[in-house]
Amino acid sequence: MAFRFPDTFLWGGATAANQIEGAYNADGKGLSTSDIQPYGTFGELKPRVEGDFNIKDNAIDFYHRYPEDIALFAELGFSCFRLSIAWSRIFPKGDELEPNLQGLEYYDKIFDELEKHNITPLVTLSHYEMPLHLAQHYQGWTNRKLIEFFERYASTVFSRYGDRVKHWLTFNEINITLHEPFTGAGIPRGTDPQNLYQGIHHQLVASAKAVKACHQLVPNGKIGNMMLGAIQYPLTSHPDDIFEALQQNREWLFFGDVQSRGYYPSYIWRKFKQMGVKLDITEADKEALTETIDFISFSYYMTGCVSVHQSDMAFTDEDILKMGCNPYLESSDWGWQIDPKGLRIVLNLLYDRYQKPLFIVENGLGAVDTVNENGQIEDDYRIDYLNDHLYQVGEALQDGVEIMGYTSWAPIDLVSASTAQMSKRYGYIYVDSDDQGQGSLLRKRKKSFFWYQDVIQSKGENLTPPTK
Ligand code: BG6
Repeated sequence: MAFRFPDTFLWGGATAANQIEGAYNADGKGLSTSDIQPYGTFGELKPRVEGDFNIKDNAIDFYHRYPEDIALFAELGFSCFRLSIAWSRIFPKGDELEPNLQGLEYYDKIFDELEKHNITPLVTLSHYEMPLHLAQHYQGWTNRKLIEFFERYASTVFSRYGDRVKHWLTFNEINITLHEPFTGAGIPRGTDPQNLYQGIHHQLVASAKAVKACHQLVPNGKIGNMMLGAIQYPLTSHPDDIFEALQQNREWLFFGDVQSRGYYPSYIWRKFKQMGVKLDITEADKEALTETIDFISFSYYMTGCVSVHQSDMAFTDEDILKMGCNPYLESSDWGWQIDPKGLRIVLNLLYDRYQKPLFIVENGLGAVDTVNENGQIEDDYRIDYLNDHLYQVGEALQDGVEIMGYTSWAPIDLVSASTAQMSKRYGYIYVDSDDQGQGSLLRKRKKSFFWYQDVIQSKGENLTPPTK
């Protein structure tokens, strides 16, 4: 591409604590909601029984192997690494007044190691997990008390790590609560819209309070939101479909609207009325919401189509969001519709809407990798996917969109969130472990490792025009 990404552009990869760390009960950690989801975010919830298998208990053992993994990220040329703090390592039950020191010390070591390699951490406060106690004894985020607990947790980590961590995110894919309330908010599945939106409201207030605390406690800190940015296209040019797409995109943009503008958008009140939702929103809540994020972050994997004429529609069978099929797109082995140009569309849309810097904090291809007879992993399909998406990021930069960086999901193979599989691989670094957690856990560079290293080194100049 005859274009170089800006020198300030942050290049890296993204992960989440419960998908890499393992050590699920080490050093005083409490159980988290993820610890009772052995089959993934959409699978059955399973109370823990001693001896039962949960692949996340050990995951890829980043908890102990982080020096080797961070050294590999440095070798890749990363200037940024996105990770999350497991809230239940810091406050094991979530409602304590004092933090667990061993948990705090663990992340000290991680941030020191990153600093040693000149890698900027981008830290998510809550990525698809929270202390299980809060879900079981407080009904998760439906309970207003969680705002205070989260504020305490956020302030604790800002004070402790604010010297080394300047980039923060509040809730991972905050809009996931609409689709999977237990994963997003510790709220039982099947909860009615009243409780669901009340829980979401509490999260939005807590997020704004964390933004304020970050601004107060982290010198030169920047904090963003994080949305699952799966845009919906109208399937046809019928005005009904155009309006349906507008409405469905508002389902996720609603979160960005509140977090970026500091108040509820006008369109939501009609929806609340139609759903019979009467929000308990106090004057203090309204005031809290006015503390807005510094940048917008989002994950991008797929797009979908909508139509009010349901009989025209086919749906993907993928596991996070059921999306209407787009006849122009191909899908991954897990049914996620691949749409590089859609990333340019989302970047332009978000920048037009918010006029704040954007950060692509997840994007990648989950695929089965095989080690060939020479011991190599030739993941050209992943290289193609990433090349085509990054090319569109370059185009968006030239469109004038302000983009802080790109952290692909995930730099190293890890446990899939939705299906709890190891065989759904995303990494530049292969990890020897299977879906039963069997394997040496040894790390191995894939072909994409050397490709991404070149991309970073050439500041995107070696990206080639998409073939599709
Ligand atoms: C995002 C999540 O939805 O997608 C990650 O933030 C997740 O936690 C990623 O891993 C990919 O999904 P999956 O199900 O393939 O792991």
